[in-house]
Amino acid sequence: MTKKLVITNRKGGSGKSSTSVNIAAELAARGQRVLLVDLDTQAHCAIGLGLPISRDAPTLHGFMEGKNSFAEAICQTSCKGLDLVPGNQLFDHGAGSYSETRLRDAISMPTITSSYDMVLFDTAPSLDALLINALCAADRVLVPFVPHFLGAEGVRQLSRVLFRVVSRGNNVNLSLLGFLPVMLDNRVGIHRETMRILKQQYGDDRMLPGVRHDIRVAEAFAAGQPLKSYAPRCRAAIDYSYVVDRINLLWS
Ligand SMILES: Nc1ncnc2c1ncn2[C@@H]1O[C@H](COP(=O)(O)OP(=O)(O)OP(=O)(O)O)[C@@H](O)[C@H]1O
Ligand SMILES: [Mg+2]
Repeated sequence: MTKKLVITNRKGGSGKSSTSVNIAAELAARGQRVLLVDLDTQAHCAIGLGLPISRDAPTLHGFMEGKNSFAEAICQTSCKGLDLVPGNQLFDHGAGSYSETRLRDAISMPTITSSYDMVLFDTAPSLDALLINALCAADRVLVPFVPHFLGAEGVRQLSRVLFRVVSRGNNVNLSLLGFLPVMLDNRVGIHRETMRILKQQYGDDRMLPGVRHDIRVAEAFAAGQPLKSYAPRCRAAIDYSYVVDRINLLWS
């Protein structure tokens, strides 16, 4: 059965897109068939995967607005086994309306479920109809965060949104996979303290192995490549590989 993972945090700049691209590439390198869906109108996933998206190309947002089908928006990437449904930078958030299950209905089609082992959703740092669509479509939630005060606050806000989606019956199958500390530096007191507090609050088993601060993450994104191909031996690439091990373990 196709697994569906949403990567989200209401806090901006918390490593969502870096995590989405690098986890997607790591899973694909391990032989899984992966579809990455970019719900953010910043459309960073296409940049991170080096895919030029033309102005009128079919996109996820075009699909939400009814301008193109979901299947039409699927693009192959240079990573074997990894496809992308790109975001649209020109999407008007105020235009049109769509049901909460529009995305779930699309990825439940047999053409998608028979083609992919894992669907990943990268999301924008906002609580809007697109995020609700992603939360309705997914089975598990991964929350990357930077371990400092506002990062922890983003984690708490997101937990409340999750609780609301599940308790209102929008997606009773949704559950939290875990929190992922990124840009981690264990020498920094506030990083250690934030981790300690969140572990106390949510439980040790919810905390995934962290991704250390590594400038290669930004460099790889700028070069349009996942770490797996840009700098496979750098510390963040190694950390993301451990993160995927843990995801597989938690979700077997
Ligand atoms: N492990 C890391 N080490 C160093 N820099 C990192 C790391 N992870 C992410 N970054 C950098 O932090 C910035 C924010 O990361 P990213 O774009 O992945 O966050 P985001 O949550 O997707 O942001 P937004 O909310 O704007 O979508 C980027 O410049 C990225 O290169
Ligand atoms: Mg992003």
